[in-house]
Amino acid sequence: MSEAVLLVGGKGTRLQPLTINTPKPMVPAAGVPFLAHQLARARAAGVEHVVLATSYLAEVFEPYFGDGSAHGLRLTYVHEEEPLGTGGAIRHAATALRAAPGDPVLVFNGDILTGVDIGALLLRHERTQADVTLHLTRVADPRAFGLVPTDEEGRVLAFTEKPRRPEEIVTDQVNAGCYVFRREVIDAIPGGRPVSVERETFPGLLAGGALLHGVVDGSYWLDLGRPASFVQASADLVRGIVRSPAVPGEPGEFLVLPGARVEPGARLSGGTVVGAGAHVAAGAAVDGSVVLDGARIGPGARVTASMVGTGARVGSRTVLDGAVIGDHSDVGADNELRDGARVWCGTSIPDAAIRFSAV
Ligand code: GDD
Ligand code: MG
Repeated sequence: MSEAVLLVGGKGTRLQPLTINTPKPMVPAAGVPFLAHQLARARAAGVEHVVLATSYLAEVFEPYFGDGSAHGLRLTYVHEEEPLGTGGAIRHAATALRAAPGDPVLVFNGDILTGVDIGALLLRHERTQADVTLHLTRVADPRAFGLVPTDEEGRVLAFTEKPRRPEEIVTDQVNAGCYVFRREVIDAIPGGRPVSVERETFPGLLAGGALLHGVVDGSYWLDLGRPASFVQASADLVRGIVRSPAVPGEPGEFLVLPGARVEPGARLSGGTVVGAGAHVAAGAAVDGSVVLDGARIGPGARVTASMVGTGARVGSRTVLDGAVIGDHSDVGADNELRDGARVWCGTSIPDAAIRFSAV
């Protein structure tokens, strides 16, 4: 039996205001909470039991996912009263695992969309007899990630989380947020206090001579920690650029959920998703964006690469490009918000009040 721990306890600060009422893994991407895609991919790889390591807004996961049976999995929820960090969360969640010493345990960051072959990762873990196997990916700018140089055989040489000094940037290979641990390695993480797997556990294991094996993989990979990448991930899921069994529809240029109303003459493109009960008026154009449940896009509005929160309103002719509109906020007509502009939940912006500005 294959088991996994999913880390879903982070505060999702960089995704605010989307994560004020909803924890990051529960924000909808391509029509369902992002977590549903990760669970579906894990299940497709043969995982039968997933432990969700929750902390921030922990109470919203179980009502949606229940015991997991509707998703073909068994789900267990393990809650941290105080956040224990990534390593502490893994250790704490492991109390709910059945895996015996020597067995592999998959661990996933809860904000990663990837096409990586999980089965191949498990096979490599078995072949190399590693203590931990890490999925690695190459990125243009590695500074926001964990840097993981390896030798020709894939043996991890160092682990440097979010390097600050230029001389620390020795590779473009970064931790992709998916690991296979030997069970007993998890049990050796100190309990009862916060531990960062990236800053403490991995460097400590390396210093102690443990075998950490890195698998560099060129498949689709995106960290959804920022609004622009979240919107991108949703659009890529809708268009089938990365496949997930949890997308409620066939791949295409847009996805309109049941109960949404898109008036004739409105244009949807670029993997846009329109949520249940949302309304897109005639003459509006929505490209590569996420329109959440109950949101309203006014006549002639132009919405590009943006996220419009639950129940929010975008007025006539307003232009959004790379903007985030918080839940239940109201943006009047003839505004223009670009380049990472964020409107806090419940805020009202009068007509023609903003041009080219971040809020
Ligand atoms: N349960 C629990 N408790 N989960 C947590 C906690 C905690 O205290 N802290 C963080 N998490 C979860 C987050 O919800 C997220 O799913 C995951 O752990 C990683 O946290 P992020 O805050 O998203 O970290 P990051 O994106 O800055 O960096 C991590 O991911 C990169 C890849 O995207 C690191 O693992 C980097 O090394 C890695 O390159
Ligand atoms: Mg992240």
